[in-house]
This record gives sequence, structure tokens and C-alpha cells, in this order.
Amino acid sequence: MRGILLAGGTGSRLHPTTRAVCKQLLPVYDKPMIFYPLSVLMLAGIREILVISTPEALPAFRALLGDGADLGIELQYAEQDRPRGIADALVVGRDFVGDDDVALVLGDNLFHGAGFSDVLAHCRATVEHRGGAVLVGHVVADPARYGVAAIDDDGRLTAVVEKPADPPSDVAVTGLYFYGNDVLDVAADVEPSARGELEITDVNAAYVRRGTAELVTLGRGFAWLDTGTHASLLDAAQYVAVVESRHGVRIACPEEIALRMGFISPAQARRLGELSASSDYGRYVVAVADQADRPTPTVLEAV
Ligand code: TTP
Repeated sequence: MRGILLAGGTGSRLHPTTRAVCKQLLPVYDKPMIFYPLSVLMLAGIREILVISTPEALPAFRALLGDGADLGIELQYAEQDRPRGIADALVVGRDFVGDDDVALVLGDNLFHGAGFSDVLAHCRATVEHRGGAVLVGHVVADPARYGVAAIDDDGRLTAVVEKPADPPSDVAVTGLYFYGNDVLDVAADVEPSARGELEITDVNAAYVRRGTAELVTLGRGFAWLDTGTHASLLDAAQYVAVVESRHGVRIACPEEIALRMGFISPAQARRLGELSASSDYGRYVVAVADQADRPTPTVLEAV
């Protein structure tokens, strides 16, 4: 399975902060926002990842992440010259995905919770086994702001409704999607909506109609935070700060995940940490690398 990380858009709700800086490069507490969705794909065991962003922002992403070799992954980059919508990622990414299945994650979505690796393994295995789509849902207080899942009495997904005035449930569809290879054709057939975008909800609706869309709803122990407004960005930063300081572990540290997934060796991880040795983040990576040489049980549930 290949991964697409969509990190373009206008970030207009974060103006003026995002006039000159791409949203997904802004910090969420101690690391750039893009580290969070990148960590999700890596934790799903995906090592070939396409980062899609604006022509202006791509050089900064390249400077930040390079070709991925440091993390034992392969990163490619592609331009979205204007924000044509989330489903456009599957048009831009067509050649990159090739004959493979694909996971798509939005660059401003942050997931955290125990057992997340198992959820990701389930989503991936389902799509690799039988194709179709697996959508990830999360209960929210204000569903009218999101794409909302309609679910029947047996827990099956019957529709996804975009920003409904009268939400059929309180389960929002998050920005993490797993698809079989046929999604490339499904996305190619989507027409722009009234707001001129290729809507991911239209892609998902096609799978619901075929009866091949599964919804995996994250339980109440999970946090799903989006970072699209100043208030939600601050909330996310505070969440990360509190969890990290109370637990002494970092959320979404790609160097640590690369090490724990076996993508890089402890020596490679230590070298990466030493590059940022004057920050707590860098010292954490060094400490994790040192620990990996010791025979302790690994807990790899949360990013
Ligand atoms: P949105 O939050 O819908 O849009 P945005 O990031 O441009 O922000 P705003 O609403 O404040 O203008 O996008 C969700 C994610 O998808 C975000 O990471 C940006 C990304 N995106 C693209 O990369 N290209 C697109 O065409 C769209 C619509 C979104």
C-alpha cells in the first residue's frame, strides 16, 4: 500500500498566519504539523509516500523531510497548483499509486490514542484483502461541521452526508481514508461540486453505493484534532503538551516510529537525534535510540 499526504489548501481560516507560511508547516507544540499525519502513515507500515502541496510550499517540505531516506521511507512530492479539493489528491497521485492500494491522510489531522496501530492494521488489511474503502470515524459534538456517517441498526455505513443541517449521527468522517486501487478511477469520474471542488465525500459515496465502504469508528479513548482554526490549533498544541509532559513520550515523532517499525537502526535514529541535540525533541530521539539497544518491551500503540 502507498500513502498520500495532502498538505496544500489555502489555510484561509488561519489568515494572516498562513499568508506566507503553509498551514501544515506550522508547529503543533514541538514539531511541524505534517509530522502528525506522516506518523500515521508510517505507523500503518506505509513506506512509499507522496506529499502533495502548493508550488510555493513544496520547497519547504522538501527541506524539512528530504527524500525520506533518513527515516527509512521513500518520499516523493507533487504539486497541486490550486486547491481543487481533497479528492484531487487521487488524481494528482494517480501515477504514484500505480497498481497499488492507497491510504490518504490530510495534512492537518492529528490522531492519538492507545491501540491506534491495531486500528491502522485492520484498515489496511481490510482494503488489501477485499478492496473497497475503509473510512475512519470519530464521535464529535458538532457533526454539522463535518462529513457525517449515516449508520444502520447493524452498524453498517449507509451514507456520508457533507455538513448536514440535520446530522444522521454524531460520527464525523475524519481525514484518513483507505482505498483499493479502483479509487483512481472513481476519483477520475468525480465532477466538481457547487463550490468548485472534487469532494472526497463523492468518492466515498460511490463506495457506499457499491456496498464496499466500511466505517471504523475510533472509540472514546481516541483524540482526533483538526488544526484548521487558531482556536483548534491552540487546543491541539495544548493536548500534545499535556500528554507529552505527563507521559514522558512524544506524540508523532517520526524518528521514533521509524525506529520502532524497524525502518531504521538505533544508530541511525541516534544520529538523527544528534542533529537537533540542543532541543528537547532531539534529546528525546537520542534517548529512545539508546533505549532501543536495551531489551525492554515495546509499546507501540499511540502516535
Ligand atoms: P480544508 O481545511 O478544507 O482547507 P484549507 O486547509 O485550505 O483551510 P481553509 O478552510 O482555512 O481555507 O482542507 C483540509 C486539508 O486538505 C488541509 O490539510 C488542506 C488540504 N487540502 C489540499 O491540500 N488541497 C485542497 O484542494 C483542499 C480542499 C484541501
